[in-house]
Amino acid sequence: MRMSVIGTGYLGSTHAACMAELGHEVIGVDVDPHKIELLSRGETPFFEPGLDELVRKHIASGRLRFTTSYQEAADAAHVHFVGVGTPQQKNSYAADMTFVRSAIENLVPLLRGDHLIFGKSTVPVGTAHTLQELSRQLIDASPTTADHTSVEIAWNPEFLREGHAVQDTIRPDRIVLGVSNPDSRAEEIAREIYAQPIADGAPLLVTDFATSELVKVSANAFLATKISFINAVSEVCEASGADITVLADAIGLDDRIGRKFLNAGLGFGGGCLPKDIRAYMARAGELGADQALTFLREVDAINSRRREKLVSMVKDACGGSLGDARVTVLGAAFKPESDDVRDSPALAVAGALSLAGAHVSVYDPQAMVNAAKIFPTLTYADTARDALRNADTVVVATEWKEFRELDPNEVRECVSSPIVIDGRNCLDAAAWAQAGWTVRALGRGNLEQ
Ligand SMILES: NC(=O)c1ccc[n+]([C@@H]2O[C@H](COP(=O)([O-])OP(=O)(O)OC[C@H]3O[C@@H](n4cnc5c(N)ncnc54)[C@H](O)[C@@H]3O)[C@@H](O)[C@H]2O)c1
Repeated sequence: MRMSVIGTGYLGSTHAACMAELGHEVIGVDVDPHKIELLSRGETPFFEPGLDELVRKHIASGRLRFTTSYQEAADAAHVHFVGVGTPQQKNSYAADMTFVRSAIENLVPLLRGDHLIFGKSTVPVGTAHTLQELSRQLIDASPTTADHTSVEIAWNPEFLREGHAVQDTIRPDRIVLGVSNPDSRAEEIAREIYAQPIADGAPLLVTDFATSELVKVSANAFLATKISFINAVSEVCEASGADITVLADAIGLDDRIGRKFLNAGLGFGGGCLPKDIRAYMARAGELGADQALTFLREVDAINSRRREKLVSMVKDACGGSLGDARVTVLGAAFKPESDDVRDSPALAVAGALSLAGAHVSVYDPQAMVNAAKIFPTLTYADTARDALRNADTVVVATEWKEFRELDPNEVRECVSSPIVIDGRNCLDAAAWAQAGWTVRALGRGNLEQ
């Protein structure tokens, strides 16, 4: 099937390449000419395992191309996906819907014939309905399109995880589709687009607009809550001398609870969870259901407190003052296998340490360029060993495999004082202690004894 994908960021470029992999002919559209130039050369503007190869493969196969021209997208396909950004508004918790509206305003007046637009961006409940109305108004306002054009909106939220995005798009856990009415063509078209994932066993859940929009934000709110739950218990473990890692294993063995998303540490970040829970609270408030989600404020607050706690642990490790302390922060991305530093806990900690007077040396396997754009004043080392040189305290802030596999005996020679603070509970604390390190970790009051 021929289709366009509007917005070629993390979501859109992955979706475009994966749709080509599923056999479709895809044109990706973005307003950022630099991004389009890179993608057209087969280079992805960010790190995502396997994506570069897929983009190159399908530029070569002729099934994937990129443009800044909406006209090309309108001419090329009758099915369009919208995956533009929905960041948090400045001075508000609500989502900024400017880009989504603009995508519709740019696309719809150019359409001729019957078109279907699948929304993939994460949006406040009510958006699909508003965009359906907006599309009608745009068509009616154009005398040349009014008689010959119909545009149907459907909502098809995206659940991919950065770091696993290709696999998650080709083999999703589930496909959710929100439609406006029982006569909608969207299900039939979606079954054709996702024929392979459906044949591989992915359930397709067809529902109304509001439910489909709420599924996505509710999934993210649940994940954020699970992370903050274990991090709240971490605070009690720190106060009582208990060990959050053993506690998480023990409660996670109950299959009603499950072990996933119970890794205590520096908490969540990135371009989705933080802004999505805030936008969810804001939208619930607008709908008069504000009390329903007030607990998400606490989820957010617990998450922020972990960053502050880690900074205070580093300060203690440096003898009570960060002035002139040399601190190495291993990790800048918000999670491993990504170069995304949006609302990254690792980078927030590195920045806070620097602002408090520490000399901070940062190393991340993929996120150095993005991190330097946000915090140019930090020192960025070429390797983990370079970053560790002469450190007074080492912080592990992102659980990259490279850091988990550091040899504590070998890297002890690099630092001036062997103190490590594990912000992700990803090191073998006993092995590091055995190698002569003083080990501290979030949620592990037992290590303080
Ligand atoms: N990144 C993820 O892991 C993920 C997962 C699921 C859902 N989402 C959701 O997907 C959406 C996109 O997220 P992202 O991480 O890809 O953001 P992103 O910032 O990486 O990409 C957004 C892209 O949209 C482009 N854009 C903005 N306005 C445009 C317009 N009018 N026309 C065409 N292109 C335009 C931008 O230039 C940018 O390339 C958000 O709603 C996000 O919440 C993201």
